[in-house]
Amino acid sequence: MFLAGTVLFAAATYVLMIAAFYYSRLRRFHVPVMASIMVVDLFFPIYLFMTHDWIRRLIEEEEIFTFLIWMHLFLVIALYILYYHQILAGRRLLRGEEEARGDHRSQGRAILVTRALVITTGALLVEPPQQE
Ligand code: HEM
Repeated sequence: MFLAGTVLFAAATYVLMIAAFYYSRLRRFHVPVMASIMVVDLFFPIYLFMTHDWIRRLIEEEEIFTFLIWMHLFLVIALYILYYHQILAGRRLLRGEEEARGDHRSQGRAILVTRALVITTGALLVEPPQQE
């Protein structure tokens, strides 16, 4: 497996996310870090789309028929859905609605698992540099 810069960057943001998870009581650390990581995750596919030749890989080399690419895609969609619910629960906590804490905590754990799987499946999809 070739370790691309994009994977290293994603892994670094994952370490930061774990820190923000454990230090959730420090709201001024937790909220901006989590919100920034969500924004990064939102724009990451756009960055990858602009910097890779997806037509060649997906269509010409028929990678669109592989299980891994679909698994990766579905995990990303699941992550976005979890983010949506986590933002709603987080905003409720900020408004002082303590009932949202349980949902926010369990969704938080699900986000950590899903994001780890997104990064792992993404790492497995990295194309090693071509050797001439
Ligand atoms: C923009 C998004 C988010 C907002 C606005 C937000 C907001 C908050 C707030 C206000 C608290 C309460 C802190 C306190 O106790 O004073 C909290 C706790 C927490 N957050 Fe978030 N959060 C966000 C994203 C996330 C994400 C992505 C995760 C997980 C990966 C997460 C995991 C947690 C956990 C585990 C707690 C502690 C819950 C508990 O007390 O049991 N949050 N969050």
